Amino acid sequence: MRNKTLLIATAMALALAAMAFSAGWLFGSGEKPRPSAPPPALPVAAAADDLGPAGMQLDAIRRGVPIGREAVPPPLARVENADLKRVRAYPMQPPTIPHTIDGYQVDKNSNRCMLCHARVNAATFQAPPVSVTHYMDRDDQFLAAVSPRRYFCNQCHVVQTDAKPLVGNAFEDVDSLLHPPAKD
Ligand code: HEC
Ligand code: HEC
Repeated sequence: MRNKTLLIATAMALALAAMAFSAGWLFGSGEKPRPSAPPPALPVAAAADDLGPAGMQLDAIRRGVPIGREAVPPPLARVENADLKRVRAYPMQPPTIPHTIDGYQVDKNSNRCMLCHARVNAATFQAPPVSVTHYMDRDDQFLAAVSPRRYFCNQCHVVQTDAKPLVGNAFEDVDSLLHPPAKD
């Protein structure tokens, strides 16, 4: 009988201890790590409007979108392949390329452009040969082959596309200065 009481007392004591332990586990403040708070928000870039004039800085390539805003890229321009020369804006402008140049390789070993535009090949392909300037070195000496500084054609010549100008400009052709339209 006495043993039974002892047994119950021990069991109760154990149960209490277990409860106290779990209560401590659940609610104890102690050193228990708290669920981490979300990291502080980074300064929102879109707030560039609040930056005043600096935020409204215009960059033509961004097409007027403030620097803090993500711009929607315009669709790629379509390369025109019409064999139509465009007027040169000034006498020494490298003419734009009136044909597509997809896959035309220009590297150390071969120059696809010169396949047609070299003086000797021009007749075969009915392409205008590169002008003498392309054979001149920086001391104006004429070389037998295209000058290294004119070797990478796309440095200066670009294909014609239907892209609209990104910014307006007030450039005046020298001819319109020589012969200004009559004013009344
Ligand atoms: C398959 C031959 C061929 C190849 C290769 C070729 N072209 Fe042409 N190119 C021509 C022909 C032909 C013309 C004359 C206009 C036309 O028919 O499109 C021309 C015209 C041009 C013009 C215009 C010249 C002017 O007076 O307005 C430029 C600039 C030009 N090509 C640059 C290039 C460049 C740069 C490459 C290499 C990336 C190249 N071409 C590759 C055949 C070629
Ligand atoms: C450093 C810039 C530059 C490079 C590189 C260059 N060109 Fe030119 N190119 C010009 C300029 C400027 C003109 C117009 C004035 C002149 O003829 O020098 C021109 C003119 C031309 C013309 C018209 C020639 C004519 O008589 O009307 C053709 C065709 C041409 N280039 C093809 C090429 C090819 C092909 C290459 C590559 C092998 C090339 N260019 C590399 C600047 C360059």
